Amino acid sequence: MSESITILGIESSCDDTSAAVIRDGLLLSNVIASQEVHAEYGGVVPELASRAHQQNIVPVVDTALRRAGVDKHSLSAIAFTRGPGLLGSLLVGTSFAKGMSLGLRVPIVDVNHLHGHVLSHFIRREESDPVPSYPFLCLLVSGGNSQIILVRNYNDMEILGRTIDDAAGEAFDKCAKVMGLPYPGGPHIDRLAAQGDPSRFKFARPHIPGLDYSFSGLKTSFLYTLRDNLKTNPDFITENQADLAASLQHTIIAILMDKLDKAVRATGVTTVAIGGGVSANSGVRDAVADYCRRRRLTAFIPPRLFTTDNAAMVAMAGYFKYIDRDFCRYDQTPFARVTV
Ligand code: KG4
Repeated sequence: MSESITILGIESSCDDTSAAVIRDGLLLSNVIASQEVHAEYGGVVPELASRAHQQNIVPVVDTALRRAGVDKHSLSAIAFTRGPGLLGSLLVGTSFAKGMSLGLRVPIVDVNHLHGHVLSHFIRREESDPVPSYPFLCLLVSGGNSQIILVRNYNDMEILGRTIDDAAGEAFDKCAKVMGLPYPGGPHIDRLAAQGDPSRFKFARPHIPGLDYSFSGLKTSFLYTLRDNLKTNPDFITENQADLAASLQHTIIAILMDKLDKAVRATGVTTVAIGGGVSANSGVRDAVADYCRRRRLTAFIPPRLFTTDNAAMVAMAGYFKYIDRDFCRYDQTPFARVTV
């Protein structure tokens, strides 16, 4: 029998410090320490994020190994998020992974954070858990990205469309902010939208050719709707919170689904997945599931735990690269931006 492969994954690209252990493709543990410190600033403060990663990383890794019941000496490799993300935050995870790998004499595997989100669909707790078959489309929607990716293999991904301005998550967050909702606004809009009328307000939709997205026009039109109505009714927002949220969410979903449908038609793929923070949105999840049901496509909707930043996806991506002996050199450094 061949020796088992045990990968420790480390994620520190933004404001979550996370560590996970995957053995022979199955998830043994996934620990996430979210940073509360940013809430009062209305967004992630990079300097505070990297300091919090420094405080969290040792206990988080330790807990992940303990929960997995894995001794660090039995690790085959350490996978870490190399980018994209906040440079100071990435440096914490990268340096930690390098130091630990040198101490244990095991290789390091660098993971592209966006690939991690796509590959989160391969995380299994049981052998029988379903995974997508290649090729498939992944709608990757987060606070920093809105992309439609054609996934031919774990290491062969092509971006068919991307946002030319704001990401879908930014549209949620920025519109929520002008409504006076706390950061990040996406989950608040989701909650309010459940009680509102999605057809009450009409907001601008982009007319961009091809498969690219744009959300800045929607944001402006949302802002103007508030501004115009507040002139005559200072309580406009509080009186219409749910309908505003539902109409905003409805428009974002319509924009996302329009291009996703075009991509499905253009590629002829039969499997569609979603990933990234915005894929936690109830409306987005329902819309993709409904769409796939109607078109007889197979849908992969991730458990909510794997929609936001987590190390399980990093360990998963690292596992695939480890099998191909695709290791990272020690002189390789984190990167803040990526074009994939
Ligand atoms: O992937 P992610 O955790 O971080 C990066 O951007 O890398 O995504 C965060 C984004 C935020 O914009 C947040 O508002 C959004 O995901 N989000 C949601 C929901 N949960 C998180 N947006 C809409 N509805 C949600 N339920």
